[in-house]
Amino acid sequence: MLTIALPKGRIAKETLEKFEKAFEEEFIFEDRKLILEKSGFKFLNVRNQDVPTYVMHGAADLGVVGLDVLEEKEYDLIKLLDLNLGKCKVAFGLRKGEKLDFSKSKITVATKHEKIAKRYFEQKAMAVEVIKLYGSIELAPLVGLSDCIVDIVETGETMKQNGLEVGNTIMESSAYLISNKNAYYAKKDLILDLKEKIEEVL
Ligand code: PRP
Repeated sequence: MLTIALPKGRIAKETLEKFEKAFEEEFIFEDRKLILEKSGFKFLNVRNQDVPTYVMHGAADLGVVGLDVLEEKEYDLIKLLDLNLGKCKVAFGLRKGEKLDFSKSKITVATKHEKIAKRYFEQKAMAVEVIKLYGSIELAPLVGLSDCIVDIVETGETMKQNGLEVGNTIMESSAYLISNKNAYYAKKDLILDLKEKIEEVL
């Protein structure tokens, strides 16, 4: 049995479609159920940001999560496979017509991705104040909470509709199949077999 934490929403749906193709079985979460157990798999329906936590603590052997979330958590997990789903980037957002003023003594950045933003400025040896938000990040520069934002950009439409422009890219992201280290060694054959089958349908 392999326990796999999936991030609620579109990525879970698309991942289960890959499993359906690979194993010729139907995998659908019933109504509001958070566990789907079938054909040797136990899928868990969890919040995106919680996937690495379930895998890190061994409550799930495997997980599917965006590289951006993984970078943000800094957990010691195995990246097994890029599923090429949920492709996006982590980028700056600035008020239309503005550029990042690197000569400023301190830049304030609003973001969900605290660590990624901090690392970016550390590498440039610049002072930054990171303001952690949990959503609607695009609002922050519009009401003077921050100079800019660091956020996920998929189509760029959310920034555009809120009078922001997409600036420098910090990293590209997509959903990865990840593994707990102990589970990987204890269930290596099962996990590698699964990886191979999924790879075939990507
Ligand atoms: C992300 C991100 C942006 C939006 C970008 O939020 O925070 O708001 O998607 O997508 P776009 O470039 O296609 O407009 P998401 O919908 O993942 O919701 P969340 O804030 O709950 O994480």
